Amino acid sequence: MMTKQKHIIEIEALHTRFGNHVVHKNVNLSVYRGEILTLIGGSGSGKTTLLRQMLRLETPAQGRVRIFTNEHIDSNLSPQEKNIHSRCGVLFQQGALFSALTVFDNIALPLRELHILDEKMIHDLVMIKLNMVAIAREHADKMPAALSGGMIKRVALARALALDPQLLFLDEPTAGLDPELSESFVELILALRREMDLTIVMVSHDLDTLVALSDRIAVLADQKVITTGTLDEICHFEHPFIASFFKSIRQKFEQKNHSEQPWKTAPMP
Ligand SMILES: Nc1ncnc2c1ncn2[C@@H]1O[C@H](COP(=O)(O)OP(=O)(O)OP(=O)(O)O)[C@@H](O)[C@H]1O
Ligand SMILES: [Mg+2]
Repeated sequence: MMTKQKHIIEIEALHTRFGNHVVHKNVNLSVYRGEILTLIGGSGSGKTTLLRQMLRLETPAQGRVRIFTNEHIDSNLSPQEKNIHSRCGVLFQQGALFSALTVFDNIALPLRELHILDEKMIHDLVMIKLNMVAIAREHADKMPAALSGGMIKRVALARALALDPQLLFLDEPTAGLDPELSESFVELILALRREMDLTIVMVSHDLDTLVALSDRIAVLADQKVITTGTLDEICHFEHPFIASFFKSIRQKFEQKNHSEQPWKTAPMP
């Protein structure tokens, strides 16, 4: 049966608790195949946790997380879990690379874990991935400590892409990068998405990243997804978190002298 927009992830009535601390209370969210969906929400609102639940790294207290739903692989357990991880790439918020491994070995790690490729193939695949993220091959033998922040993110992205994932998770991919590096990282993501038929779930509070990449934005507040839509749609949704989020963004833009942005008309508290 064909549906117009195919879900790749479906989250239904999800609840998360750590001890007595309730993080999510009835979260519902769908991610469509081929889109870039950005999660925004205050610090501690449970964005990273939600990504980890999508990846099956964490189990919610209640509710359902279905991934690759159209292929019904969510109905049986252990082979499925393995399958999910080989079909997803992740750029974690912290600790982008293993500091004791070279650039080459960082990218080779997920390939070696498959135990099906010989070293020659692994070498070639690592070089292809380095090329994809525009890192010259002479950097392959460097240790992460010898790389700039922008290069670390690119190498971490190459590692996330090692297994040609269909789904890519990016947790604050441009945090800590200066505007220029951040912009070139965004360009890279857009190019990869065109080439690779990727679906991307991202967490970001950086406006430029958010605007350049998001097809839709989902807002986590009050322990749930309060609204989902385009930037224009969500900035008109009345909620204190959204008001303050766009207020700080508006101030930033006023400083930069931009005037034609949709969040200019966002409701203010
Ligand atoms: N393993 C855990 N054990 C206990 N509490 C946890 C655990 N993981 C997350 N939390 C708590 O759950 C809440 C949500 O955490 P999470 O890291 O998902 O937030 P976030 O929205 O990603 O925040 P940030 O914007 O700061 O990255 C926080 O209060 C955090 O302290
Ligand atoms: Mg986080």
